[in-house]
Amino acid sequence: MTLLKGKVALVTGAARGIGKAIALKFASEGADVVFTDLVIDETGLATQKEIENFGVKGKGYASNAANFEEAHKVVGEIVKEFGRIDILVNNAGITRDGLMMRMTEQQWDSVIQVNLKSAFNFIHAVTPVMMKQKGGSIINMASVVGVSGNAGQANYAASKAGMIGLAKSIAKELGSRGIRANAIAPGFIITDMTAGLSEDVKAEWAKQIPLRRGGTPEDVANVATFLASDLSSYVTGQTIHCCGGMNT
Ligand code: NAI
Repeated sequence: MTLLKGKVALVTGAARGIGKAIALKFASEGADVVFTDLVIDETGLATQKEIENFGVKGKGYASNAANFEEAHKVVGEIVKEFGRIDILVNNAGITRDGLMMRMTEQQWDSVIQVNLKSAFNFIHAVTPVMMKQKGGSIINMASVVGVSGNAGQANYAASKAGMIGLAKSIAKELGSRGIRANAIAPGFIITDMTAGLSEDVKAEWAKQIPLRRGGTPEDVANVATFLASDLSSYVTGQTIHCCGGMNT
């Protein structure tokens, strides 16, 4: 499969979970794939190996996406080694849930920094690269709760709503340069982030989903592949929900 042949993709926070599934799917479509995570330990190295097993170049970089300087440094290193960046997926994200009454400033700040400022950091760093190339596809990982809101997740929902506004603004600002920007709003996806939820909570979620199941990281990776590839060459400024019909 060669939908992404000749392209270089950068996925943040991709040692595991949805980011990893995206990295592997991109590699299976022929892209060279670079990813970041807080540390590149055995998990990250295993991801790098799995990418390389598709016969493409792959490399994991330890980098805190929330840090402006680190994001710029890693983008500089990637351009030096890989020559270009065609696809950026702003995937790194965390939750620090709590009701407003009990939410600390630290909970608010950390979620906004990791989930939203990280995307600013990377978009800021890759914009000159993509402008020079006269093209690129930027994908922000949002969430259905960024559209609908969620009790107990004010910080997370606000960060994800921000990811949608950021993608739409970049689409308008950089469309004339051939750069597209879209958001994906996943629903309930089964990963480490959601593994901690009790079976009762998971069953309750599934009941509310028209397709009657939680999503897989691969479900999200398929949407990302569409947005990364030239199949979506006339799609920009959009939010694609990948939620089994939950947010309909
Ligand atoms: P995960 O927790 O399994 O993976 C997130 C990855 O990001 C981890 O490898 C983690 O080390 C990395 N990371 C965290 N902070 C980072 C930082 N400052 N710099 C670099 N890397 C960092 O999470 P999952 O489920 O794979 O989520 C991926 C994205 O999808 C997140 O943005 C999340 O908010 C979003 N999402 C997930 C949903 C779900 O149901 N799992 C639903 C909707 C959105």
